[in-house]
Amino acid sequence: MKIINLGSKEEACHYVANELLKQIISNKKSVLGLATGGTMVRVYEQLVNLIRINEIDLSEITTFNLDEYIGIDYDHPESYYTYMHDVLFNHLPTWNEEKIHLPNGSAENLQEEIKRYEDLLDKEGPVDVQILGIGENGHIGFNEPGTSFDSLTSVVGLTQSTIEANSRYFETKEEVPEQAISMGIHSILKAKRIILLAYGPKKADAIRKLLTGEITTDLPASALYNHPNVEVILDNNAYLSEKEEI
Ligand code: PGA
Repeated sequence: MKIINLGSKEEACHYVANELLKQIISNKKSVLGLATGGTMVRVYEQLVNLIRINEIDLSEITTFNLDEYIGIDYDHPESYYTYMHDVLFNHLPTWNEEKIHLPNGSAENLQEEIKRYEDLLDKEGPVDVQILGIGENGHIGFNEPGTSFDSLTSVVGLTQSTIEANSRYFETKEEVPEQAISMGIHSILKAKRIILLAYGPKKADAIRKLLTGEITTDLPASALYNHPNVEVILDNNAYLSEKEEI
């Protein structure tokens, strides 16, 4: 695992956007593993600019998102389907909607849906570059502490701390989803290359635990030590402890 502190949020996001661009340029049929959350908003803004400047055609690019909420419709303002379209897909005309994949959290049969998604990942994959955020509790995707490192795409319950972290996006507490479909830890580790991005003091504790090197299901992100090609991209505030915020 390579740990790279790029100092600022802007530089860290630029690195990730640029690595995605390089992947797309190196293979116009690339498979990208995409993530949502506040962390990735700036990455996608920068990626949109880079793709526009370089006039890149995206029509043969396949994308897989990590997760989607259960209990809200795909077109709900806070669904990850909406997030991805608002922040990335709608800004560039050449994405091929048929090659954009998110789990369907409104599927009638969730067991069929998780199997469909994992099978599709196997058929279209492996993912060339998977980008990841990290939860304050160390989750990756919605794989919360305690999740087996062998897990595949499944229906997951969100922990109270994740529900609270997400509640800032919803008008009422009742609306905040308590379940999601998430790619599993094993599904994530099938990617050829993984880039985890974390910035800001709220992530410092999870990063400090990750950097101890201990591999434990208490910190799902520590499963990344079992993968041969992982970079952890940080800013000063995620790298330092919260008290040392600068
Ligand atoms: P955030 O979420 O980017 O909104 O902090 C990251 C995550 O939970 O993986």
